[in-house]
Amino acid sequence: MMESASGRGGGRQAADGAANLAGRCFLSVLDFNPDDLEHHLALAATLKQDRRLGREAATSAALQGTYVAILFEKPSLRTRSTFEIAIRELGGDFIDPSADVALGTRESLADVGRSLERWVEGAVVRTFDQARIVDLAMATSELRVINALSNDEHPCQALADCLTLQERWGTPQGRRVAYVGDGNNVARSFAQAATMLGITVHVASPEGFGLPDAVAADVERIARHGAELVQFTDPIAAVRGVDAVYTDVWTSMGREAEQAERNRLFAPYQVNDRLMAQAGPDACFMHCLPAHRGEEVTDSVIDGPTSVVFEQAENRLHSGKALLVMLFED
Ligand code: CP
Ligand code: NVA
Repeated sequence: MMESASGRGGGRQAADGAANLAGRCFLSVLDFNPDDLEHHLALAATLKQDRRLGREAATSAALQGTYVAILFEKPSLRTRSTFEIAIRELGGDFIDPSADVALGTRESLADVGRSLERWVEGAVVRTFDQARIVDLAMATSELRVINALSNDEHPCQALADCLTLQERWGTPQGRRVAYVGDGNNVARSFAQAATMLGITVHVASPEGFGLPDAVAADVERIARHGAELVQFTDPIAAVRGVDAVYTDVWTSMGREAEQAERNRLFAPYQVNDRLMAQAGPDACFMHCLPAHRGEEVTDSVIDGPTSVVFEQAENRLHSGKALLVMLFED
C-alpha cells in the first residue's frame, strides 16, 4: 500500500484522532498500489462486458440501500453523469445538494461531512483545493469519499485512461505516452497511474508549467517495470516515437483570468497533424474532454482515426462503477 494524502497505504490517523481513511476513500491515484490498480482495471473490464445484462449483472445490487452525495462546485458533464448512472446501475441512489449549501461558506466542510454521514454512505466531490476533499474525508469516520477532480488531481480520469490504453494495447508495460500541455490535475494523475502500470510518461510544457518535483518523487517511488516520468520543454522531442499523445485544456477551471497569457505561451504545444506525425505509426490521441478545439488540439486530430477520446469518455462509466464496487465491497 502507498503512503498518500488520504493515508490508504499507511493507515494514517488524523492528528486529532479522527478517522482512518485507509481503504474507504479515493482521493488520489496514490491511494491505490499497483495491485489495487490492476484489480480495478480487471473489474472495470468485467463490468463493461456485463453492462448488457442489466439487472442480471452480478453487481446490480452492490450499492443496494446505499446513498451517495454528489457534491460539485465546478461544472461537469462526464464525471457527474457517469457517477449518477454508475450509482443507479449498482442499485444505489444519490442526493445532489447544491454547491452553495454543501461547499459554500454556510458551515464548515467538517460539519457538512459529519452531517452527511448520518444519512449517506458516500460522497463524490469536485472542488478547488485538494485539501478541501481531504478535510471532508478526515472529518468523517465511515463516509466513502471520492475525488471527482480538484485543482491538483483527477484520479478518476486516470483510471478510465488506463482502462482505455489497456484495451488498446493489452499489456501496457513498456509503452510510452507523451502528455503535451499544462502540467495540471489530469497530467499529474495520469503520470502516477500510467507509471504504476509500467508506462513511461513524457510531459512537454512551457518552462514553469511542468509537473512539480513532488510528482517526480512520487513516480520514482511507485513506477514499475522501469517506467519513468521525463519532462521536456520541446513538444517534438517529447512526442518522437511514442505510442500515444495526450493533451488537455491549457486553462483549467478556476484559472480563467490567465487564459489570454496561457493561449500565447502554450501555442507551440498545440497537438496538430504535424506534431502527431512525430509519434509512432500506431499512436493514438487522448484527451480527457472537454476540449477547446483550435487551441490545444485541432479538429483534424481529435476527429481523426487515431482519436480515442470517446472511448476514454465511455470508460469513465465502467471505471467509476468499478471504483464504487471496490470502496463499498466491505
Ligand atoms: N473529463 C471530465 O472530467 O469531464 P467533465 O469535466 O465533463 O466531468
Ligand atoms: N484540467 C481540466 C480538466 C477538466 C476535466 C480542468 O481542471 O478544468
